Amino acid sequence: MILVLNYGGQFAHLIARRIRDLGVRSEILPGDASIEEISALAPAGIVLSGSPHSVLANGPLPDKKIFELGVPILGICYGHQAMAHLLKGKVKRGEHREFGKENLSIVKKDSLLNGLSSNETVWFSHGDTVNTLPKGFTKTASTKTCRYAAYSDEKRKFYNIQFHPEVTHTVRGKRILSNFVFGICGAKKDWNMKAVASRIVSDLRRELGESHVIVGISGGVDSLVAATLLYKAIGNCLHAVFVDTGLLRKGEVESVSNALRSRGFKNLHVIEARSTFLARLAGVNDPEEKRRIIGHSFVEIFERTLKKELKEFPVTYLAQGTIYPDRIESAATGKHAAKIKSHHNLTLPPEMQLELIEPVKDLYKDEVRKVGEQLGLPHDMVWRHPFPGPGLGVRIVGEVTEERLEILREADAIFTEELREAGEYEKIWQAFAALLPVRSVGVMGDARTYEYMIALRAVDSVDGMSADWHKMPQELLERISSRIVGSVRGVNRVLFDVTQKPPATIEYE
Ligand code: XMP
Repeated sequence: MILVLNYGGQFAHLIARRIRDLGVRSEILPGDASIEEISALAPAGIVLSGSPHSVLANGPLPDKKIFELGVPILGICYGHQAMAHLLKGKVKRGEHREFGKENLSIVKKDSLLNGLSSNETVWFSHGDTVNTLPKGFTKTASTKTCRYAAYSDEKRKFYNIQFHPEVTHTVRGKRILSNFVFGICGAKKDWNMKAVASRIVSDLRRELGESHVIVGISGGVDSLVAATLLYKAIGNCLHAVFVDTGLLRKGEVESVSNALRSRGFKNLHVIEARSTFLARLAGVNDPEEKRRIIGHSFVEIFERTLKKELKEFPVTYLAQGTIYPDRIESAATGKHAAKIKSHHNLTLPPEMQLELIEPVKDLYKDEVRKVGEQLGLPHDMVWRHPFPGPGLGVRIVGEVTEERLEILREADAIFTEELREAGEYEKIWQAFAALLPVRSVGVMGDARTYEYMIALRAVDSVDGMSADWHKMPQELLERISSRIVGSVRGVNRVLFDVTQKPPATIEYE
């Protein structure tokens, strides 16, 4: 297992993901984790991640005792400055931050740079630089602007690089990480999704025994995979509640229900609550108020189902589809970590006293998907784009009405279908239609129309925190627009959203 000490969320996650992609388990701990926590994991190697902080301005530092563990350590960017700083080298304040590709000249091919050419393209994100090496270290590479771009102490197995091997712009980054993980740390390949899925199932079985578990199905991949793993582990002691809010995508209730029922799963409670949601949303225009109503109604219905339909079963656990980045970001990333995203998991009233179980809590999104495929869930369902908890409620600007929902569901289904057919869907992080309740004039046949607008949103992103609009083939956009206007009653204009996040959010409300 390779431990990544986290000095800046996104950097640490990317490193852990790359290591897992090499087939080795990798976990993240806060950058200021105690030596006891670190030793308890018995890592084969430790990586100190990059960070937006500076070691010269009270940035977080690892416990100095990690240098006495006899474990190989790789410092990346901030991590390499942290190591230099703690081992009494000198770090110089950078004037400004520089980003971008640079040419790395390798002067000594140590175990980390083994197999690389003398010149390699690497990606930098400089702030500070090291200008005096700590004792025992030798320079191994430099660039035009960075004297100590890489240096190491092979004897103690301490390696440092100023550039980022975890980003794809560093062309041989994978080789560098692989040199560290296998060549230097001697880590074993112990991370593949088949083994991971069966380990999760046996752990769940052992932990839950005969207990009854309730899980809320949202239509999203995470909860579906969590439910499927639980079903494999405890069979009909699992009770799934799928609230049909009326705010789901076209055909979603049917496809998700079928995926579960076709595996022999009996305890699926599909609660039809469309009219409740519609009635409560009538006349409400304010986005926050809409979100509040949807969230509260959901919890209320979920709770009622538990009390009424499941009263004969001793349900003691609530399962959720929390994934690894959710847990790391919202829990212990160390006191320095910036809060990145607030989560929207179902929170039940405390008096319900259910214990939480999170079957996919150690997995990244793409790993959850691979486990889903291992479990034989339909490909399209497993690779579906993220969908927000409040559903189409946040994709209709202003009041939610039945008519608007119907229009939006149809337009969205056409958009998705065309993207899939063109092979574009899986190149996109998230794509959907939104309804703008503004009427404009059009002409159809001989008649003048006065109807709504549909906005198409398609974005590229890694985590939804920032996003760029997806550069879409024009012919495809044209086909989608013609099909929507031609077949969805109530729409006479289609717009394509070319706004980045920030400043715009991905969803409309
Ligand atoms: P925004 O609109 O904030 O969305 O740019 C970023 C990502 O988060 C998703 N999202 C949500 N997911 N409950 C969720 O489960 C929510 O209330 C919610 N709001 C936004 C959004 O779809 C995008 O992937």
